[in-house]
Amino acid sequence: MRILLASSEVHPFSKTGGLADMVAALAKSLASRGHTVGLVSPLYRGIREKFPKLKKMSEGLYLPMGATAEAGQVWHLKGSAGEHLYFIEHDGFFDRSSYYLEAGRDFPDNDARFIFLSKAVVHLARHLSWKPEVVHVHDWQVGFVPLLIRAQAAAGVWPSAPPTLLTIHNLAYQGVFAATSYPLTNLPWSYYNVGGVEFYNQISCLKAGINFATQLTTVSPRYAREITTPEFGCGLDGVLRGRQSDLTGILNGVDYDEWNTTDNKSLVAAFDRDHPEGKALNKASLQSAYHLPVRSDVPIFSTVGRLADQKGFDLTIGALEEMLSSDMQFILLGTGQPELEEAARVLAHRHPEKVGIKVGYDHKLAHLIEAGSDFFVMPSKFEPCGLNQMYSLRYGTIPIVRITGGLDDSVIDAKDDAKKVNGIKFKEYTTAALSKAIRKALGIFADPKLLEFYRWNGMGCDFSWEQTSSEYEALFKRALSMSAGGTKP
Ligand code: ADP
Ligand code: GLC
Repeated sequence: MRILLASSEVHPFSKTGGLADMVAALAKSLASRGHTVGLVSPLYRGIREKFPKLKKMSEGLYLPMGATAEAGQVWHLKGSAGEHLYFIEHDGFFDRSSYYLEAGRDFPDNDARFIFLSKAVVHLARHLSWKPEVVHVHDWQVGFVPLLIRAQAAAGVWPSAPPTLLTIHNLAYQGVFAATSYPLTNLPWSYYNVGGVEFYNQISCLKAGINFATQLTTVSPRYAREITTPEFGCGLDGVLRGRQSDLTGILNGVDYDEWNTTDNKSLVAAFDRDHPEGKALNKASLQSAYHLPVRSDVPIFSTVGRLADQKGFDLTIGALEEMLSSDMQFILLGTGQPELEEAARVLAHRHPEKVGIKVGYDHKLAHLIEAGSDFFVMPSKFEPCGLNQMYSLRYGTIPIVRITGGLDDSVIDAKDDAKKVNGIKFKEYTTAALSKAIRKALGIFADPKLLEFYRWNGMGCDFSWEQTSSEYEALFKRALSMSAGGTKP
């Protein structure tokens, strides 16, 4: 098949979270399975300097944006599996020090920036010489693509328009803008209604994708069920229920070329299921990096991630206040909401011998934390998939997770299966429930045989992309068998 993917982040070129990892790995995996694959993302600041092999394509972009038009360029690079990586250059939109926000506030022109990106994706879908058969877009930033394609098919100017897939990585981010942004799309007003892109008198980029993509997916089976309920639906559960027969939950895979413990420059020692000894060296190195006492007999609990409400960091802080009287260490790497960053700093200040905090983004350190820790804490309020808990399992670090979304689909608690147990799960979104889970972890750490059993099971888990890719292939086929450009009139 010939598949064009699009996303606002792609590892290793741009990344704020799991979206970048997932999209890059999906493209690589599909290409290595023999498909022709393209992947479109913005040319953010610094990418060209870091990847000097990028080549400018001969044809530029000139795309209508309301009453005016914006010019851009497309850069190309071949990925390691032969996938085509396309980068959309527009200095005014993408040559900035961050991707989405500045000083805690969204850029005021995010509507124009990502409508432009979406139009560039549609332009490539239509004009690339290898003629993509299916277009697969990820999250709200490219949410308008299915509708823009659909509209061209409906207008009769693109009769062979391809079917589209939208993957929802996080329903909480929808790209909602004032209705006055709508003309930037150059679409007829007939799509601006409740069954189209309108969301409480505003426009929603994600809703445009949900209503007009041929097929919808999200990143775990449980989250696919959750988002059709008011509790998790972020106001779009009704729309999603209306499209339930086209909505599939596919658990993300892990790129084990990248996330592995045997050939990894970010680690100080290799280890694996059969040779676990090296984990202790990573633990010592991690403790030094965080200026904590270097002790093998104390358990390290850790967290890496965006400090956002979603991740349940308020529970972590609350539970630690209670649990830090025990012999344990806690390590954090994260960045995000200022008040959560501050809460982390205060905790470290109060417990300098037990808590280590790094506020910031550090890819190498994220690997060392996964490798050197004993337990990974992920008490998310909701979690579409979550990759860190899957990385933890491979790195012999026991995940402590709340029962929600992909966390439930990927971690096995003793209650689920005592023989395959690899993590600790808890249900209630309360500090008390997380504290109880941490107490359970302390019990496991105190019992070397049990600790080894959990680790053995976890390191044996296989979330490789084979399974995930084949599920996407089945959906691409299904989309191809449906009418071009989407199912809705
Ligand atoms: P989400 O996409 O919701 O942020 P995931 O668990 O799916 O959560 O993916 C998070 C990814 O981002 C992981 O690869 C993780 O290592 C990485 N990450 C998040 N925050 C940081 C950080 N501060 N430094 C390094 N890597 C980070
Ligand atoms: C989103 C979700 C996360 C998921 C990631 C990749 O960022 O918050 O749960 O793992 O996308 O799909």
